[in-house]
Amino acid sequence: MSKVTVVGAGNVGATVANVLAHKDIVKDIVLLDIKGDFAKGKALDSWQQAPIDGYSSRMTGTSDYADTAGSDVVIITAGIPRKPGMSRDDLISTNAKIVVSVTKSILKYSKNPIIIIVSNPLDVMSYAALKASKLAPNRVFGMAGILDTARYRAFLATELDVSPRDISAVLMGGHGDTMVPLPRYTTVAGIPVTEMITKGKLNKIVERTKKGGGELVKLMGTSAWYAPGAAAAQMVESIIKDDGRIFPVSAWLTGEYGVKNMYLGVPVQLGKDGIRKIIKLKLNSEEKKGLKTSVKAVSSVISDFKKMKLV
Ligand code: LAC
Repeated sequence: MSKVTVVGAGNVGATVANVLAHKDIVKDIVLLDIKGDFAKGKALDSWQQAPIDGYSSRMTGTSDYADTAGSDVVIITAGIPRKPGMSRDDLISTNAKIVVSVTKSILKYSKNPIIIIVSNPLDVMSYAALKASKLAPNRVFGMAGILDTARYRAFLATELDVSPRDISAVLMGGHGDTMVPLPRYTTVAGIPVTEMITKGKLNKIVERTKKGGGELVKLMGTSAWYAPGAAAAQMVESIIKDDGRIFPVSAWLTGEYGVKNMYLGVPVQLGKDGIRKIIKLKLNSEEKKGLKTSVKAVSSVISDFKKMKLV
């Protein structure tokens, strides 16, 4: 794998490209934005960081899709971010058009790329990219679960005063306030988290996680970028290394968890062809109920997208 394109040189896109460059596992990173000079500037700035931090990944900026030709992985971050008071779903009318058009432009120059969607509403934009690209579903998926579990892990690390590295967690559902963190499958250095924290405190952390994106929008007036960017770069790393790591991602479901023909956050194993397999967990009745609510929320936004008749 030698070429990765990041579409959108805004805060999230530039962070994905920069974090990825630091991993030094990709020969060429192309940062594309309709504001071509902006992407060129971001890429040049990032390349000038290479002598200091010691990496060789070459980053270039462009507004021309021809420069993305032959990309192995494409991360789509293009679109508008949230403003305070907006839900991710409020972005659909603008972002759906952008994601469909970006996907089609990418496919003109790259035959069989892996596409990772970061634009919101994430699960529905993944659906849009699948339909617009006609790629196999294992090659089109969304980044959300790594970010959402990272927020959950960070909150737990603060509460327990431990390293966030030692906290392992999985979360399911859509990338919205109905997401389903799974305390039963959360450990601290192998110890079930439920043995280290009271139920009340854990519930508060779960609730804070669900609204974790919104908390940042309120604080900054726009949506987050460091953790979202790092999360997408981690997915690319796992794909390139083909190391079989397991992460929650927004994946196309064909009956798993009783869900069909839609994207939803589930644990998957990543590899060189994208999603190697979907991991099937046993859920208890409360978790199933949470997932059902999330499915409903995502389904209703998919219906809105279908009404737009873009694909
Ligand atoms: C967030 C955006 C990236 O959750 O969806 O911060």
